[in-house]
Amino acid sequence: MAQLWGGRFTKETDELVYRFNASISFDRRLLQQDVEGSIAHVVMLAKQGILTIEEKDQIIRGLTQIREDAACGRLAISEEYEDVHSFVEANLIARIGEAGKKLHTGRSRNDQVALDMRLYVRQEVLDTDGLLKALLQTLLSLMEENLDTYMPGFTHLQKAQPVTLAHHLGAYFEMFKRDRQRMRDIFGRMNFCPLGSGALAGTTYPLDRDYTASLLGFEGPTLNSMDSVSDRDYVIEFLSALSMIMMHLSRFSEEVILWNSNEYRFVEIDDAYSTGSSIMPQKKNPDIAELVRGKTGRVYGALTSLLVTMKGLPLAYNKDMQEDKELTFDAIDTVKSCLVLFDGMLKTMKFHKDVMEKSAMYGFTNATDAADYLVNKGVPFRDAHGIIGRLVLYCLEKGKSIEELSLAELTAISPVFEADLYDAVSLKTCVEKRLTIGAPGQEAMRAVIERHRSYLEEEWNRTDTGEEKKDE
Ligand code: ARG
Repeated sequence: MAQLWGGRFTKETDELVYRFNASISFDRRLLQQDVEGSIAHVVMLAKQGILTIEEKDQIIRGLTQIREDAACGRLAISEEYEDVHSFVEANLIARIGEAGKKLHTGRSRNDQVALDMRLYVRQEVLDTDGLLKALLQTLLSLMEENLDTYMPGFTHLQKAQPVTLAHHLGAYFEMFKRDRQRMRDIFGRMNFCPLGSGALAGTTYPLDRDYTASLLGFEGPTLNSMDSVSDRDYVIEFLSALSMIMMHLSRFSEEVILWNSNEYRFVEIDDAYSTGSSIMPQKKNPDIAELVRGKTGRVYGALTSLLVTMKGLPLAYNKDMQEDKELTFDAIDTVKSCLVLFDGMLKTMKFHKDVMEKSAMYGFTNATDAADYLVNKGVPFRDAHGIIGRLVLYCLEKGKSIEELSLAELTAISPVFEADLYDAVSLKTCVEKRLTIGAPGQEAMRAVIERHRSYLEEEWNRTDTGEEKKDE
């Protein structure tokens, strides 16, 4: 073991304690961020006259080599160090000697790790946003292609009223759009630099925290050093937003699984996104959708876990916070792979439009419209509801849909029915008459799709979240 302290100690750390305490097996993931933060730190130290230009240049050269060597695998991250911070510092000293020992001037691992994690999460917020955008693009194309693909809309998983596939998918568009908005909110709130907070109480060196913050693309420095080293709110917010994404993906997966079942047959998942059974030759299973649904629990677990870890911590830094990393990394990896796979599954899925339409026809999804038809002919709604109820019962006995009844059968139930009933309750009419904004009628949907198109063309203007403010 190689550690950063020793002076005060008379005994070696117990081997088990050392391993229990160490975080390098997972925080090695932060190496790039650690180096980036250190470079900004020394540039600032030199500007402030705390390091000489020569020392700064030497350190930057060493750090840049470390970054490159680690990126291409030339530099193996050795687990004999406690964490990535000690590893980088020791490696720097080994490379450049004395000057390397000055890197940690005016800094603590507490503000260092707070910065590394923030840089990491900030990038992941952007990456997640990009994956959500790709999924929205897939959804929008499918919506445009399915404006007149009729299908039943459900409540209580019972057929309710006819909608279109475009409209159904449009519901998910809204969800994932809100998920993207959450990414922006998080970005805006977290984009402040904790470096320079020291262990908890700032430092006595004349650091220029504004300068470090701007070098690292932050809106500015954080304003309380104790909060800076102990704040993990932004990680919790991100995990919460990731949980919401998973909740949406999981609901969608559940529908895909149902729709892909032999009973529904609304869709067929592509062979490339299905798996077979080792024993039942007829099977083609929706494993990807099931796994996405299943992995949701693990992301919720990360959120709950960090909330619980943080709830009893006194100010400021406590080692408990080291527990934020593995679960955050795992949640991020999980959500990213789920987004990619779900998008691929959706793009290659076949929609059985005929089956969907038939299902909408044989589920009395037009019963409300039939009642409205009577209302238009002067029947009070409550009476119309009763008449259509009896009509449905009759249809069930005969095994027919409303539009399959003869006019004689219809008028036997109510003399108000006339031949124009057939057109009034056709799937097309039922859907196309629903034209308020947000409804499935084609015209209404086209207007919404138009808005979605321009929304997807908008670039993320980070001035509203801080990113480019410094250029003003
Ligand atoms: N591995 C630690 C963490 O993840 C780094 C900070 C260590 N600070 C300390 N005072 N031991 O939180």
